[in-house]
Amino acid sequence: MLILGIDTSCDDTSAAVIEDRKILSNIVSSQIKFHSKYGGIVPEIASRKHMEWIWDVTEKALSIANVKLKDIDLIAVCNGPGLIGSLLVGLCFAKSISFSARKPIIGVNHLEAHIQAVFLEEKYPEFPFLSLIVSGGHTSLYRVNDFGKYLELGRTRDDAAGEAYDKVAKMLGLSYPGGPIIDALAQEGNSKKYKLPKPFLHGSLDFSFSGLKTAIKVLIKSLNIQEGNPPEDFKKDLSACFQFVVVEVLIEKIKMALKQEALNRVVITGGVAANSELRKRAMELEGDGIEVYLPSKALCTDNAAMIAIAGFHRFQKGERSDLFLNARAYLPL
Ligand code: KG4
Ligand code: ZN
Repeated sequence: MLILGIDTSCDDTSAAVIEDRKILSNIVSSQIKFHSKYGGIVPEIASRKHMEWIWDVTEKALSIANVKLKDIDLIAVCNGPGLIGSLLVGLCFAKSISFSARKPIIGVNHLEAHIQAVFLEEKYPEFPFLSLIVSGGHTSLYRVNDFGKYLELGRTRDDAAGEAYDKVAKMLGLSYPGGPIIDALAQEGNSKKYKLPKPFLHGSLDFSFSGLKTAIKVLIKSLNIQEGNPPEDFKKDLSACFQFVVVEVLIEKIKMALKQEALNRVVITGGVAANSELRKRAMELEGDGIEVYLPSKALCTDNAAMIAIAGFHRFQKGERSDLFLNARAYLPL
C-alpha cells in the first residue's frame, strides 16, 4: 500500500511516501533560517512558508518515490497538536488532493506519529512498551499497549525539555534551535563546574524544567555575566551542566516508569531524542536487560514518514477521516 504523509504542524514543511513500512521518500524542508533571528518560531511566518512550499515539497516526495498521485492509496495528514495556522495549511492541502484525486484521507495525531516512527526502523519493539516523547513542545511518558492504545503516565507541568534547551540557548546567546548547539558545546565542557538543581518531582512521573531555567538565570546574574553574551568557556561548561541534569532526569524517569509498569522495552523519540548524551545514557540501560529503541535522528525530529506510518496503522484497523476533519492546536493522545 502506498501512503502519502504530510506534516506542517510546526516549522518544518514535510511530505513523504511510504510503501507499507518502507520509506520511499521523506522530504523535510526546514524554515529555521526564517525564524532563528527571532529566537523561536513566529507562527505567522511558519504558516506563510508552509503555503509557499507545500506543493513543491509534496511533488518532490512523489518524484523521489517515483510514484504519481494517482498511485497513492491513502493520504495521512497531521491534524494536531501544533500551531493552528501551520496545521491548517497541511490539512487543507491534503483535503484538496484527497477530494480531487478521490483518495481516502486519515488525520494523524503528531504525538502518535512520533511514537510510531520506530516502526519505520528495522528494529522495532513488541507491545507493550514505554515511550518517552521528548521534543520542543512535549515531554511525556506513555504506556503503549497496541497501535492506538496509549496511556499517559506523566507529562511536563511547564516547559518541554526541548523548549528548555532553546531558552537556555538564548540566555547563552546561541541561535535557534539551541538543542543541537548546546549538545555540541557540552562535549567540550565540564559537567561538574556549576551545581544546578535536579528538578525531579519525587513520587510522580511528571516533569518540570522551568525551575532549572530560572536557576541558570540566577547563576548568570550572580557571576556578573552578561545574559546573551557570556564568555566561551562559560557557554561550554554551562551547556555540559545543564545537559547533564536534563538527561539525568529523563533517564531516571524512564527507569521509574519501567519499574512501575513492569515493562522492559522503551522507545525514545522526538527532537531531543537526537541528543548525543541522551542516546548514550539510554543505550547503557541495555546493560540492565532493558530493550532500548532509538529511531534514527532524522526520524526522531519532525518528518512526514512518521505521519504516514501512523495513518497506515489506523487505516488497517478500518479507520477513515472525511473532509470535515479539522485541525486542533490541542489534541491529546
Ligand atoms: O520533534 P521536534 O523536531 O519538533 C517538535 O517540537 O515537535 O523537536 C524540536 C526540538 C527543539 O527544541 C530542538 O532544540 C530539540 O528538539 N533538539 C535537540 C537536539 N536536536 C533537536 N535537543 C537537544 N539535543 C539535540 N541534539
Ligand atoms: Zn514533533
